[in-house]
Amino acid sequence: CPDFSGRVICVLIGKLKNKIWRRRMKIIMLGAPGAGKGTQAKKIAAQYSIPHISTGDIFRANIKNNTELGQKAKTYMDKGELVPDSLVVDLIMDRFKEADCANGYVLDGFPRTIPQAEALDNALKANGEKVDFAINVEVPDENIINRMSGRRACVGCGATYHIKYNPTKVEGVCDACGEKLILRDDDKPETVKNRLSVYHEQTQPLIDYYNKAGVLAEVDGTKDMEDVFKDIVNILGK
Ligand code: AP5
Repeated sequence: CPDFSGRVICVLIGKLKNKIWRRRMKIIMLGAPGAGKGTQAKKIAAQYSIPHISTGDIFRANIKNNTELGQKAKTYMDKGELVPDSLVVDLIMDRFKEADCANGYVLDGFPRTIPQAEALDNALKANGEKVDFAINVEVPDENIINRMSGRRACVGCGATYHIKYNPTKVEGVCDACGEKLILRDDDKPETVKNRLSVYHEQTQPLIDYYNKAGVLAEVDGTKDMEDVFKDIVNILGK
């Protein structure tokens, strides 16, 4: 914008666009376990200033704090099975009521079944809202086991790394908080195989569900993490 008044108009248009656009940021991450949903969801949250809501992280925090919910969830998670819908839906609906969700959110790990997707749609519809983007991060099964066995999670802050694709500065130590890194119990190969079959049976049908709703976008999750993110930003808009 060349002159002062032009610059003022540009700023005002930018703010208006921002306001309209931010209200449209209800994003769902779809994809197999280990496809990179969490990695990309964190980047989206930072780029668009919306919260990253991961049901897996919420359950792991409850397990760490030994809550009743955590004890129940652990029995399913350790086997690579889904936690029952009844435990997940109320939890997520409560989370939406928090102030940071006013401009939208990026959901990582929810919904994971058709009943969960329907519960989400009904809750949004009651407020005249809808899911804006369902981003499917495509990674073939054969790449998944390799990714999961190399993933390391921080026992302190939950940050995730990969020994080859996203290593820490000091081996075994979290860059963010300095706590030690572990291999998640459910990242052991036998459990990962079960998680993959549960994914194909119960979660993959959501791809068709959101395609029919006209909000599905697909990205190639086998690319480098930064390139996957660029593809996502192209879908969501700068
Ligand atoms: P959850 O924690 O949601 O696990 P998940 O969906 O299986 O996904 P992950 O967190 O394992 O993988 P991700 O796709 O986020 O990949 P990441 O970015 O870490 O759920 C765990 C359990 O909780 C479930 O099994 C279930 O029991 C329960 N649960 C949760 N939500 C539920 C719900 N709604 N209903 C019922 N039960 C529920 O990446 C993986 C690794 O790859 C990392 O090391 C990363 O650094 C690396 N990586 C990422 N991107 C790339 C790339 N492009 N190239 C190379 N490496 C990469």
